[in-house]
Amino acid sequence: MAVQKHLAVVGAGIVGLGIAWEAARRGHRVTVIDPAPGSGATFAAAGMLAPVSELYYQEEQLLALTLESARRYPDFLQGLGSTGHQTAGTLVAAFDAADRLALEDLRQAQLAQGLRVEQLTSREARRLEPALSPALSGAFLAPDDHQIDPRALSAALLDALAGAGAGIVRRRAAALARSGTGEVTGVVLDDGTRIAADETVMANGLGTALLDGLPASLRLPLRPVYGDILRLRVPQALRPLVRLTVRGLVRGLPVYVVPREDGTVVIGATSREDGADAPSAGGVYQLLRDAQALVPAVAELQLEETTCRARPGTPDNAPLLGRVAESEGDVPGLLVATGFFRHGVLLAPAAARVCADLAEGLPVPAELLQFRPDRFSTSMEGSQR
Ligand code: GLY
Repeated sequence: MAVQKHLAVVGAGIVGLGIAWEAARRGHRVTVIDPAPGSGATFAAAGMLAPVSELYYQEEQLLALTLESARRYPDFLQGLGSTGHQTAGTLVAAFDAADRLALEDLRQAQLAQGLRVEQLTSREARRLEPALSPALSGAFLAPDDHQIDPRALSAALLDALAGAGAGIVRRRAAALARSGTGEVTGVVLDDGTRIAADETVMANGLGTALLDGLPASLRLPLRPVYGDILRLRVPQALRPLVRLTVRGLVRGLPVYVVPREDGTVVIGATSREDGADAPSAGGVYQLLRDAQALVPAVAELQLEETTCRARPGTPDNAPLLGRVAESEGDVPGLLVATGFFRHGVLLAPAAARVCADLAEGLPVPAELLQFRPDRFSTSMEGSQR
């Protein structure tokens, strides 16, 4: 094992908890700091582990990372309790002819990347999922896209961390503690308590940019991209409503229906940049309308919850992951893991590995340098170790 370090991880969403878990598994001491673990984007997330069906055209530079992270998931889940992990695959459906053309473009992009996708006739799609509308214009299967229940996963990670002796501090981090030479030596909490650490990992989403003590030249251009998301209970007579995750494009708008083991489904998710951090009536209407276009029996479900949370977006839709430079090179003791936008749950194992490797002084593969958190800064000096 590498020399034992103490990591202070700020932020207890899936990303922060995953980093803490990976460090604890490697034998390091860990303290996680968050006033309300699992209550941010993790609380809303549908938990799709879907590098194939979430291959957005502008995000192809993310594919190697998302695929690697998806591959790491089974190992990442080792030793955790129930997480709702399901490997049944994702069915992608098009509503009208224009949606079919758009999804055919996506399928061609997926095939060009060597990803597994299987075109389905309407009959084949409905044989797989009898509740699908007979009016859909096209469908394909992404058998390698899986899903997890993020609320169950964050609870399982918190349990596992407590079992491994990690500290969970339910307070807000106010500032980085820095030595006279600029090294980050830990975190100062909102009550003035100081937590000393060898490595401080900033993994608190949009809050990362708000912390006092970050390098003055560091620009973390995070922006909130709100998603409305619904949880509905499927009456016994209709179970299972769907077995696979069903994603669709309905008159150009994306929607997904994700089945949970407890007899509920999660329907999401809008993308709003209107600054409104409460569920939007228009968003909820759009989700119910479009989910019903794919699966008409959605109208018969019981609406249990409407939630809204912000995804931490970045200008290039890629994460801010790794060390950051100041005038003398990389700031010792500081790691950043934020800006995961739509892929926080999926990318948690990759973020965990990168941060644990960096904390241990291991080299990070050259292709990950493109995700350096300081790539938008006024000066970008230093190099990833
Ligand atoms: N990854 C799904 C979403 O952000 O809505």
